[in-house]
Amino acid sequence: MSMNDRTPKTFHVKSFGCQMNVYDGARMAELLEAEGMTAAEGGAEADLVVLNTCHIREKAAEKVYSDIGRLRREDGSRPMIAVAGCVAQAEGAEIPRRAPSVDIVVGPQAYHRLPEMVAKAKKGERALDTDMPLESKFGALPARRKQGPTAFLTVQEGCDKFCTYCVVPYTRGAEVSRPWNAILDEAKTLIDRGAREITLLGQNVNAWNEGEGRGFHDLIAALDRLPGLERIRYTTSHPNDMTEGLIRAHAEVEKLMPFLHLPVQSGNDRVLKAMNRSHTTDSYLRIIERVRAARPDIALSGDFIVGFPGESDAEFEDTLRIVTAVNYAQAYSFKYSPRPGTPAAEMEGQVQAEVMDERLQRLQALLNQQQLAFNQATVGRRTSVLLERNGKKSGQLIGKSPWLQSVHLETNAAIGDLIEVEILSAGPNSLAGAQLMRNAA
Ligand code: 5AD
Ligand code: SF4
Repeated sequence: MSMNDRTPKTFHVKSFGCQMNVYDGARMAELLEAEGMTAAEGGAEADLVVLNTCHIREKAAEKVYSDIGRLRREDGSRPMIAVAGCVAQAEGAEIPRRAPSVDIVVGPQAYHRLPEMVAKAKKGERALDTDMPLESKFGALPARRKQGPTAFLTVQEGCDKFCTYCVVPYTRGAEVSRPWNAILDEAKTLIDRGAREITLLGQNVNAWNEGEGRGFHDLIAALDRLPGLERIRYTTSHPNDMTEGLIRAHAEVEKLMPFLHLPVQSGNDRVLKAMNRSHTTDSYLRIIERVRAARPDIALSGDFIVGFPGESDAEFEDTLRIVTAVNYAQAYSFKYSPRPGTPAAEMEGQVQAEVMDERLQRLQALLNQQQLAFNQATVGRRTSVLLERNGKKSGQLIGKSPWLQSVHLETNAAIGDLIEVEILSAGPNSLAGAQLMRNAA
């Protein structure tokens, strides 16, 4: 039986998975605040808990059920529970069947309807909405609130690429680009509220386009002209959408940071074909070459999957080979996880868990080595750092280098300042620096 005999006054949104979910989670929080609710100090005490879930791999998807169980309090009561995000989209009504304490199930394209759903749940009715409505949720969202120095801005959602392992085309739907004006208006608001860096987000962000009109690089050029904005980033990209214009932007747009997350997934052409990646190792390497020619100091990042069905030892070795050839500044690597409804889940030759473990270890050892080498190569360099948050020690602040490295330093500058720093030392995950001078800006 539902226990929601009272109106939720406080809420807690917990986001898992990609940065798109972080953005969506922040939008949901604003939506609930616009309804008069306030964010609970500690999540455990909130009247409404929104689990903003990820479905990309099985482990992430299963996590939601243990999280729901953990929401029960010592006195046996529980908050109103909403499951949002990609598990909501993929599993829909199956969720309350498995976890009857769930009151609300809302997909990533329908969360602007969350307040109505809360009202319904209050009456003890279960509310489920996994529509992908044509009208955009963005138009229905309230104004942005106070903003830190770095902001995410979703410009594109969904994916039409249908890689055979991936649930995203099913959970996030077809590729949709937000309108030019809506994006620029949101960017201006973010800057007015204090953002100095904007990361443009999309499942295939570089596929953003206006049909026959402007492309993603035009959007970057427009952001570049916004006063007050210092840094532009974007993620995540598909090799096939690395246009000449975008590559040129890396040479020409000063605010565009020298960092590119460009997943290749595998270094073997047979595997890439079976993944339906529609690029080859060669075409990928050629793009990397052109990007490096445009911006020689660019930091490269990628995603890799080991143990895709049918992947042989030799084919896995090809992945190590492409990693060696590219030399990444950082990367994400995963064991293949069969996802219901995707073609790869039905393929022959599913790879044994132990084999995947061993491959992942070898790949990560190589990637970690490259990451450390990349960090160490910045020691002695003078570079800008955008201060984002306080460090653990007093007087210590943490910011980001242009190459997305965390930099720790002692300074009396403030969060949001862009300062000049000399890098003093490097570890695998962060750098230490010293401030050179206070920027005039
Ligand atoms: N199994 C393992 N990794 C996956 N990814 C996407 N689907 C799967 C899957 N079924 C990885 C890809 C993608 C990243 C976001 O997650 O590397 O780029
Ligand atoms: Fe998934 Fe491939 Fe689309 Fe990326 S490009 S979201 S991996 S289907």
